[in-house]
Amino acid sequence: MTKTILRALAGETLPTPPIWMMRQAGRYLPEYRATRAQAGDFLSLCYNSDLAAEVTLQPIRRYGFDAAILFADILLLPQALGADLWFVTGEGPRLSTITAQAEFDALKPADAIHDHLAPVYETLRILSRDLPTETTLIGFAGAPWTVATYMIAGRGTPDQGPAHALKAENRPLFEAILDRLTEATIDYLSQQVQAGAEVVKLFDSWAGSLQGDDFVKYAIEPATRITSALKARHPGLPVIAFPRGAETRYEGLHAAIGADCIALDDGVTPEWAAAHVQPGGCVQGNLKSSHMVTGGADLVRETRRVVDALKHGPHIFNLGHGITPDADPENVQLMIDTVRGA
Ligand code: CP3
Repeated sequence: MTKTILRALAGETLPTPPIWMMRQAGRYLPEYRATRAQAGDFLSLCYNSDLAAEVTLQPIRRYGFDAAILFADILLLPQALGADLWFVTGEGPRLSTITAQAEFDALKPADAIHDHLAPVYETLRILSRDLPTETTLIGFAGAPWTVATYMIAGRGTPDQGPAHALKAENRPLFEAILDRLTEATIDYLSQQVQAGAEVVKLFDSWAGSLQGDDFVKYAIEPATRITSALKARHPGLPVIAFPRGAETRYEGLHAAIGADCIALDDGVTPEWAAAHVQPGGCVQGNLKSSHMVTGGADLVRETRRVVDALKHGPHIFNLGHGITPDADPENVQLMIDTVRGA
């Protein structure tokens, strides 16, 4: 096995950690903005397999990242289940809401998503043909809780209030939504693997807003179900779980979820993660993405700090969250050169 990302995921401690970056294909890159304009808008880009593969490849060509992540969005799955989805420029996603049983009953069954998502699978097939042999192809989905927060509210919210409210007021409906999403996510990721994804990552961006038992029931249990079902269907498939905002609850998650890698946000220090999370297996993270905007000596110092803190165990270098549109592409190169000791 020569791909460095797969070696780290298998538990190997490498002399230099492999690198990729969340949102590495994104608006900070002029070539991305040009291709998005060619596609028309963001969703048209997601569903245009040739152009989605092209933007996935752009950061690989420019920087030589060790992994490429499929270009798509976590909200394509609710759309495949029958929700309306659109993006308001400068604001973010909008969806038709699900807050009553009748709206839930109108959703499609979990296994009826594949026609809608066929262009995503085609993007993966193109990528597995066109990526350099050393580059790992990562597929992904949103975790059920995070996707549900958007389906229930119809948009992003600062505190996921509408989803918490539905959970309090109509728990059976709330749990039915999570169940449908869990089943659909297993099918979706399984098809991604069949189309060429070598690793899958589950993005639970709002896991941190679940408190007490809710964190276990609605973040950990669905992730565990998804991971074990995928590993049963695809023996040896590496899984990365990203329960963002877990704070000290990151400890023990490799074992709890059965994931090969836990991705860390920047709410924990790399030193704490080395002591409390990395003993369980590979970790990914966790440089603050703001360094990609500010650059300079701070970027170099904090990059070295993450590398040094996590060098005694399996580590994939990444940011703590996605790179932002105001980032400077030169700072990304500086980060990579610093990690690789160039
Ligand atoms: O990492 C990658 O580059 C892979 C592709 C990817 C995108 N979104 C592309 C994207 C992935 C893995 C995501 C995940 C995603 N999408 C999450 C979970 C991770 C996280 O960021 O917390 C969430 C919550 C979404 C939903 C979403 N998509 C929002 C809230 C927004 C608008 C906010 C924003 O950044 O503009 C998007 C749009 C989006 N998804 C963009 C990209 C490159 C920007 C779209 C554009 O070009 O205008």
